[in-house]
Amino acid sequence: MSVKTDLTETKFNELEAYMETIPVKKGELIRVLHKAQGIFGYLPEEVQKYVAKKMNVSTAKVFGVVSFYSYFTMKPKGEHDIAICLGTACYVRGAEKILDAIKRETGIEVGETSADGKFSITGLRCVGACGLAPVVMVNDKVYGRLTADMIKGIIDNYR
Ligand code: FES
Repeated sequence: MSVKTDLTETKFNELEAYMETIPVKKGELIRVLHKAQGIFGYLPEEVQKYVAKKMNVSTAKVFGVVSFYSYFTMKPKGEHDIAICLGTACYVRGAEKILDAIKRETGIEVGETSADGKFSITGLRCVGACGLAPVVMVNDKVYGRLTADMIKGIIDNYR
């Protein structure tokens, strides 16, 4: 999978086609942004403005929603997104140490993408797997009951 950073017309067309399938647009902003992030890989200003115009809402409103939900990102994610749960259960079971190990292995901070485009780190609130705390997801794969010394091995799988 390559990093999806290009803002091609085809992608805007795909987003527009999706928006046309939504009968009542009011209140569907999150759904549309979710789709937009799926298409573009992230939500840069240009895409936010486009969505605002099409949905007939202000760009400030779109920006507010994008900034509020940790799921949304304004920067392109890496080929492998390492999403760490920073919710309460994971936190009390040592998510901070896990995060330190991830930062050490990748050389990046939460919200950043490595220079080679390989990795990004995303901080999430509870992902609904508290029984497995602390939890990390790499792309769609879930890793639970982690200890800091397991992180290197996991990340090496994606290098
Ligand atoms: S707090 Fe991490 S899965 Fe619930």
